[in-house]
Amino acid sequence: MRQPLVAGNWKMNGSRESIRELLDGIKAGMGDVNVAEVAVCAPAVYIADVEAQLSGSGVAWGGQDLSSEASGAYTGEIAASMWLDFGCRYVIVGHSERRTYHGETDEMVARKYAAARAAGLVPILCIGETLEEREQGITEEVVARQLDAVIALEGVAALNDGVIAYEPVWAIGTGKTASPEQAQEVHAFIRGRVAASDAGVAAGVRILYGGSMKPDNAEELIAKADIDGGLIGGASLNAGDFLGICKAAG
Ligand code: PGA
Repeated sequence: MRQPLVAGNWKMNGSRESIRELLDGIKAGMGDVNVAEVAVCAPAVYIADVEAQLSGSGVAWGGQDLSSEASGAYTGEIAASMWLDFGCRYVIVGHSERRTYHGETDEMVARKYAAARAAGLVPILCIGETLEEREQGITEEVVARQLDAVIALEGVAALNDGVIAYEPVWAIGTGKTASPEQAQEVHAFIRGRVAASDAGVAAGVRILYGGSMKPDNAEELIAKADIDGGLIGGASLNAGDFLGICKAAG
């Protein structure tokens, strides 16, 4: 039985002050939430504050990216062990904004997945097609390629230690959500792709949907057979909206 996960991705937003208020709001509302797991992925500089505020709260926390290297002369990078040092459980890898603005290739993302896993963090592997790719009819080809890079490097069993997030790039921050049917179709494809290598891994791996998920569309999306929760950008910056999605997933 897959346990649903709702994870917030704050991206490059917030301040010490606004994050304190946001987490106070989330913690205050957690009593009404019965989704299995809730997490927030914060900017690195605030992670100590997040740890202090969320310890013992039932809400997990994590980073938004990490280095593929364990340590050393990599100016500006953050190692998996550093995230762990601050109590992180999760780290996002291969978000489309990293792929687009930082040139992360499938191979780089796979190495980051491996680094997270080796350290004991749970990587949230983001995959998804652009609008152009969808219009060209190559959505499945794109997500298969992104997924296969991880399987090629680490083996299919590595997916037991992570979470997949299907995030159609055209739905991220645009207000254009994939319909529950459109999302389910790709989620089923992804699970099938994993099943082709290992049916047991496919049955257990959580596949989140991300892309303009809001309290009013979350329930329908998460009700679909292969959608096991959400990766939430914009709506995770508002405690009421984030809690609304968590309730819908419960
Ligand atoms: P969004 O972002 O919810 O603002 O569309 C999702 C994401 O990028 O993870």
